[in-house]
Amino acid sequence: MRPPAPLSRDRDDVRLDCHVERFTQKEKTASQDSGATYRVTLSRSGAGYEVAQGKSILDTLLDAGVDVPHGCKQGICGACKTQIVRGEPDHRDSVLSASERTAGNVMMVCVSGCKSEELVLDI
Ligand code: FES
Repeated sequence: MRPPAPLSRDRDDVRLDCHVERFTQKEKTASQDSGATYRVTLSRSGAGYEVAQGKSILDTLLDAGVDVPHGCKQGICGACKTQIVRGEPDHRDSVLSASERTAGNVMMVCVSGCKSEELVLDI
């Protein structure tokens, strides 16, 4: 029996795909890492909430009775992806691409925070 042919970078008939899945968050959440409070305003209702030190945007909104889609609460599933109307997010998720982070138009509200005094979200 012949051994299988070794994989070579010179072969163009072989394609290696790599799939990555994360089962835990890769870095501290904004609420674990920041001592600052900030305001989150919902653009559709105009309602505003103070995000307390140690608390996530998602938990702040859920505690206030705002229905926000979510899943893992660890920044790895993408279920809480939210459009940003205004403000500077502090991205801490494992979902967004580098270009999405740079554009600053969306964020994962379960783990990410705010670098400005206020975030206005399309909720
Ligand atoms: S709930 Fe999974 S990324 Fe936010």
